[in-house]
Amino acid sequence: MNLIEGRKVSKEILLKLKDQVSGLINKHIHPKLAVILVGQNPASLSYIRQKQKACSDTGIEWEQFDYDEEVTTEQLASKVHSLNEDPDIHGILVQLPLPKNVYAPEVLKAIEPKKDVDGFTAYNLGKMFLSTEFEHLTPCTPMGVIQLLEYYKVPIKGQEVVVVGHSNIVGKPLATMLLNRDATVTVCHVHTKDLASHTKRADILCVAVGKANLITAEMVKEGAVVIDIGVNRIKGADGKEKLVGDCDFENVSKKAGMITPVPGGVGPMTVACLMENTVKSAKRLNNLT
Ligand code: GUN
Repeated sequence: MNLIEGRKVSKEILLKLKDQVSGLINKHIHPKLAVILVGQNPASLSYIRQKQKACSDTGIEWEQFDYDEEVTTEQLASKVHSLNEDPDIHGILVQLPLPKNVYAPEVLKAIEPKKDVDGFTAYNLGKMFLSTEFEHLTPCTPMGVIQLLEYYKVPIKGQEVVVVGHSNIVGKPLATMLLNRDATVTVCHVHTKDLASHTKRADILCVAVGKANLITAEMVKEGAVVIDIGVNRIKGADGKEKLVGDCDFENVSKKAGMITPVPGGVGPMTVACLMENTVKSAKRLNNLT
């Protein structure tokens, strides 16, 4: 088994971006990310800390707007509109999930596609549907997975790829990006009848469900590449909280050819890709590419 070291790859990406940000600052363009956070969801706070650190590591400016859970859809959309108009802002990120009283699609719809560094707007998702040529601002986690596969020279074309999970943030865009690269893609989800019958066929198995130990060794083909995108906080044997993915890592790793650890696999790549998208937006908004 070989470990796919997302943390290491992400550091390389951040180093390259730091140079690019310096170059932009010399041209009096200071890439800046605006982040909207509603409430105090512990997972969101943890993600936001990681994103803020990556901004400080690369030299990207960070501005955070905090709201309490009582905020309305209209108030958030109105904030997004003002950020759309602000020439100093190059990326707008609305941290998900939003509370139940907010209609998230309406808030995301308000984001100007050129500043949509999460790649969640219908415009950017629709473009991505066409081909790799139109993958401009793509969702960061799927983009991170593709970059990891490319970094480790894992062939995608013609391979049997099974994606477990069909969320709008990860599963659906990831399946689309793999299809753009000519994989044979199967998407499984909570209503799939016999999950193991699909996962066992996978040359590349990508799992983004959020259920610890969903994937056991018996469900994985010998030598498969396993990309674990799950993030679960569970109580370890010592009673302390720990972070695990969706795979039974100890046993799946013995059967897999390559596997991503959790933490230190896809997570840091998501953050690095967000930084890439922010730099990309800053360049495009200034007609530099
Ligand atoms: N919540 C969980 N993942 C993400 C993400 O990639 N972007 C945003 N904005 N919220 C999230």
